[in-house]
Amino acid sequence: MPNAAIQSIAMSVAERVMTNEEFEKIVETSDEWIQTRTGIKERRVAEPGQSSSYFGAIAAADALKRAGVNPEDVDMVICATVTGDHLFPGTACLIQERIGAKNAGAFDVGAACAGFIYAAEVASSMIRNGTIRNAVVVGVDTLTHFVDWSDRSTCVLFGDGGGAAYMEATEEDRGIVATVMLSDGSGAKHIKIEKGGSLYPPSRPQSEGKCSTLYMAGKEVFRFAVRAMADSCHKVLEKAGLTADDVTLFCPHQANLRIITAAAEHLGLPMERVFVNVQKYGNMGAGSIPVALYEAEAEGALKKGDLVMTVGFGAGLVWGANLIRW
Ligand code: UT7
Repeated sequence: MPNAAIQSIAMSVAERVMTNEEFEKIVETSDEWIQTRTGIKERRVAEPGQSSSYFGAIAAADALKRAGVNPEDVDMVICATVTGDHLFPGTACLIQERIGAKNAGAFDVGAACAGFIYAAEVASSMIRNGTIRNAVVVGVDTLTHFVDWSDRSTCVLFGDGGGAAYMEATEEDRGIVATVMLSDGSGAKHIKIEKGGSLYPPSRPQSEGKCSTLYMAGKEVFRFAVRAMADSCHKVLEKAGLTADDVTLFCPHQANLRIITAAAEHLGLPMERVFVNVQKYGNMGAGSIPVALYEAEAEGALKKGDLVMTVGFGAGLVWGANLIRW
């Protein structure tokens, strides 16, 4: 069986920078509160019309360019997102069309902030079993289109953008070494956008009074996140027969610096081996892990042959981790 290596990675985030100071003018908050509780200093905010496929396609096209691959040679486009352009068609199809991947299949993966973990494993499994030769795996979200800008407990947390990885079959000792994917639907109530799906469709009587903006029970999600990070990291290391000492770089979902440091502490990983960029982007949902991987590589923190551990958690509830030989 071949391995499925990440041959290239790219990112695309919204251009507009929104600082904590700007929030002081629209809700009762402060730069000090946001920084101490979350680690976020600024985030990127998409313009109206800049949807998830917009950033996803830019990143996907760039990943292919970096790998020197013709879009017509791509077998599959997978997009991890919960903020797709539409309920349907899938955002992966819109990306497939924009990048000119004429001969590829395309589908979305909805696993919230763990979406890239799930999508990378799906691509890897399909490549390894021979169903496809290669895939473009996108993780992208534009959550600011869905926040309630008057709710200080959520509007300061999110940013827009994502990244894309080009994965292909290789005989080299690279690619996903082990993955764990977990869920607990009893926690579905803790992060959600209630209206707009088939239970509460827009403009239907049963949807009256239901919320079409993002709701999050912050404290519950915080407690879950700390547990989920530790749980999935331990499980994925155990599955691979490795320990935290073998990990070159820990690249977690970027939701909150306190969650990241708690997880690193729990794993006994010094912060020099933990990649953090939440201060620049806030929480970009499924986009945060590929953007972190891209920046880690660009900064020289992640090199070919290194062992990187990614971990994500989010609405569902879902969580999971990949161990990747870069
Ligand atoms: O990717 C999806 C996963 N999502 C997450 O990982 C988010 C997980 N949760 C969190 O990161 C944290 O729970 C938050 C950052 C959302 C909140 O931090 P916290 O330390 O749990 O604060 P809290 O919710 O307990 O709120 C403490 C106080 C409250 O005031 P009272 O009731 O003590 O008077 C809030 O109303 O802080 C208040 N507050 C704010 N104050 C200033 C909440 N948001 C703000 C704000 N500015 N933006």
